[in-house]
Amino acid sequence: MLETIAKRDRDFGTPARVSTQLVNLTIDGQTIQVPEGTSVMRAAAEMGINIPKLCATDSLEAFGSCRLCLVHIEGRRGFPASCTTPVEEGMVVITENKKLNDMRRNVMELYISDHPLDCLTCPANGDCELQDMAGVVGLRNVRYGYDGANHLNDATDASNPYFAYDPSKCIVCSRCVRACEDIQGTFALTIDSKGFESRITAGQKDTFLESDCVSCGACVQACPTSSLMEKTVIMMGQPEHSVVTTCAYCGVGCAFKADMKGQEVVRMVPWKDGKANRGHSCVKGRFAWGYATHKDRVLKPMIREKITDPWREVSWEEAIGYAASQIRRIQNQYGRDSVGGITSSRCTNEETYLVQKLVRAAFGTNNVDTCARVCHSPTGYGLKTTLGESAGTQTFDSVMHTDVVIVMGANPSAAHPVFASRLKSRLRQGAKLIVIDPRTIELVSSPHIKADYHLPVRPGTNTALLTSMAHVIATENLIDEAFVAERCETKAFNEWREFVSRPENSPEAMAEITGVNADDLRGAARLFATHGNGSIYYGLGVTEHSQGSTTVMAIANLAMATGNIGREGVGVNPLRGQNNVQGSCDMGSFPHELPGYRHVSDDTVRRQFEQAWGVTIQPEPGLRIPNMFDAALSGSFKALYCQGEDIVQSDPNTQHVTAALSAMECIIVQDIFLNETAKYAHVFLPGSSFLEKDGTFTNAERRISRVRQVMEPQAGLADWEATCALSNALGYPMNYKHPSEIMDEIASLTPTFTGVSFKRIDELGGSVQWPCNEDAPEGTPIMHIDQFVRGKGKFVITQYVPSDERSTRKFPLLLTTGRILSQYNVGAQTRRTDNVMWHHEDVLEIHPHDAEERGINVGDWVAVQSRSGETALRAEITDRVQPGVVYTTFHHPESGANVVTTDSSDWATDCPEYKVTAVQVRRVTQPSDWQTHWTRFTDMQHDLLEKRIKEPAPSN
Ligand code: SF4
Ligand code: SF4
Ligand code: SF4
Ligand code: FES
Repeated sequence: MLETIAKRDRDFGTPARVSTQLVNLTIDGQTIQVPEGTSVMRAAAEMGINIPKLCATDSLEAFGSCRLCLVHIEGRRGFPASCTTPVEEGMVVITENKKLNDMRRNVMELYISDHPLDCLTCPANGDCELQDMAGVVGLRNVRYGYDGANHLNDATDASNPYFAYDPSKCIVCSRCVRACEDIQGTFALTIDSKGFESRITAGQKDTFLESDCVSCGACVQACPTSSLMEKTVIMMGQPEHSVVTTCAYCGVGCAFKADMKGQEVVRMVPWKDGKANRGHSCVKGRFAWGYATHKDRVLKPMIREKITDPWREVSWEEAIGYAASQIRRIQNQYGRDSVGGITSSRCTNEETYLVQKLVRAAFGTNNVDTCARVCHSPTGYGLKTTLGESAGTQTFDSVMHTDVVIVMGANPSAAHPVFASRLKSRLRQGAKLIVIDPRTIELVSSPHIKADYHLPVRPGTNTALLTSMAHVIATENLIDEAFVAERCETKAFNEWREFVSRPENSPEAMAEITGVNADDLRGAARLFATHGNGSIYYGLGVTEHSQGSTTVMAIANLAMATGNIGREGVGVNPLRGQNNVQGSCDMGSFPHELPGYRHVSDDTVRRQFEQAWGVTIQPEPGLRIPNMFDAALSGSFKALYCQGEDIVQSDPNTQHVTAALSAMECIIVQDIFLNETAKYAHVFLPGSSFLEKDGTFTNAERRISRVRQVMEPQAGLADWEATCALSNALGYPMNYKHPSEIMDEIASLTPTFTGVSFKRIDELGGSVQWPCNEDAPEGTPIMHIDQFVRGKGKFVITQYVPSDERSTRKFPLLLTTGRILSQYNVGAQTRRTDNVMWHHEDVLEIHPHDAEERGINVGDWVAVQSRSGETALRAEITDRVQPGVVYTTFHHPESGANVVTTDSSDWATDCPEYKVTAVQVRRVTQPSDWQTHWTRFTDMQHDLLEKRIKEPAPSN
């Protein structure tokens, strides 16, 4: 039962071992068989015998320092530590007798003599392993007294906003140090000094905040006492129940236990049995959840006629009735296709499915699109064309079997941190790394990690670079001929081989274009093709280009040519940005596709949905988001229902977007905050956070994980309920009682989901990877094993076509954008948490050479101007970027990064070319005109919200 589980997970003391060799032994008179390499402690725990322990925990390799876990082993001298002793065939172990207990009590006495005995007022009271062990060994008195040297008055380090370090409670078990090294891979902690003097320090005796700590929380999780403790627990006390759910931030999809007191979250703890994260987390999911109850949440539905009017709070009925009447009025006046909707990659699968159903069935149009349009739509197109399925091929676990990794256009340490930790762990074991990125991202060089190759590709030339890698592989006979012959279309392959082998595609010929040294490129290509299991992980630095789809196909070509598809440790792995980007695409959010990526023009598919939904579905694809904007400006598109998306901040060419919104007659925004888009809205429907609803998210591994309600919807309705109400008001009935019924409908209509239900997900341990159907009742961890989904893999020619966005005399620099660890996307959530301590403004990274040429110093305000617009940011001078390239993030609306980005987009999918914008940069002393306008408009909108006409209290 996953809904409510024990507060503290069972701890087996040391990690599980996997081996076909089984070992038989006897523990306390009972026999057991365990895999070779298992510790005596774990073998005992699996029999239900809990040997006392302090320094061991099953998320870390044993260290053997506390000596509490001593056991007697027949035929052995002394008393070995059970955590560090592996089982042996025929071993006979005694875990309890007087001698062992006396020794353990002595150990505990020493610990307790240097520990403040304030259990009753300690925040860990009831959840402290030291306290538990004192009870287990029967400690009744401490002979050593408290007068000698001790650490009882050591000062607490409360510098981190989310957790405190109280050294007086520290037993120097080093679990925190090992967690930071082995699980997180940051190496921020050390044990300073020796013996009695030994203390845990962050960095060079820095505070946690000053150190390299990235606040992942792994050390807090590992600490057996209250030495490292969440501040929320210190404030609120121990939780009383837990609910397993899924993080609502990035596409890793970490499972968490929401530790609760009534309806209040006390803390979010990464769930050990979560298959995407294996008990790890990052600062966002672990700590940055306070936005869910932030005072800025708008909890009443509101309407207004014009965006210059104050808002008027109304009942849900009135808001929904008004929205429905506006949609019908507009359709009557301007035609059926004058309205549309945008689904959200932050909402659940069930909610996303309902929005596209609402648009197709109740609005009667295919004008539905999703924010995946602006991130991974080229992944859908590129992988479908080459491999036959629009999704990544692996599990995250698969990276532990890889031998050489390409990370391209992705910065996992910032955007997919829990995956980055797994990857680093594999790299520390010896796997090779090739980074393809214009910036020197953290993975290029970090503690105990050094990329074998960093190819600093010039923005906009990814296709050229991958084609030249393929050239090396083809011309140096490094192709996996047997794989290609058996698994791929011969004609397409031969054409591709001839194409990539041309001299103009050689690294030497391409170096001029890509800016990458030909020798490095040859070295990287040889390494990838010859070093065993090769895997490719990529992000928006691949897709958000005018040739995004071509580059995705070039990646698939490379994987097929080297035989790196269809088993553990290999594959093509898009790192999805938002929590449910994969799901929103799966659910039929694109205007041309019904759920399961089936084209609306397919009569058979359409008929299936028409029968189930009882309506006629249009056979023509509807408008994509950019087309909606263009149609709004030309006067034919008049109303938009936008759930959980902030298109004004996240879409390119902000002024174009706001002009389009301003031209519409009815904008309905459903969100938890009055976001940038809501400032242009006429109807505001309060959204619900992930803590307030049931459903599922699908992560970058195609893993469908349960989202569970831990508190009532703050505004009275969950998002799916509001969509149903709108549909009902439009005369198209939607009467689901629970999101599980929506999933049942999805499963009945989508071949890759036929085996999925909430019940089945629970039976499978909380998640399942699609396809999950009759052929794969337990889901599909790895795709394309024996054959590709499309039958034979298809090589596609990847001719490099330069982007229109090229540096010119007027705009000599190339702007590229990305994310940082502490903030998430448009920042609406993370800006409302203490994460702003790490990133309170977006800055412009510029190379020292380019800065000097322009007389720019660190911290100067600089204008960034493109053909779209101009904004101003502070300058950070760094050689993380190459000369000729500047970089910024887009987490703060006032930065206006998307005022500068242009309408250039991917040829196949219209995904905007965020990663390449030709700009000029110069020193300024004041904000840009756009920023001045933004401030004025934002002040006005805040004023209109403040002055909103409140709904009268209901009379009795
Ligand atoms: S929070 Fe994470 S990064 Fe920081 S010290 Fe602890 S384990 Fe290391
Ligand atoms: S802070 Fe906690 S985990 Fe770290 S050494 Fe001290 S007691 Fe152990
Ligand atoms: S890695 Fe992603 S899913 Fe996991 S906790 Fe961080 S933000 Fe959430
Ligand atoms: S638990 Fe085995 S030595 Fe500490």
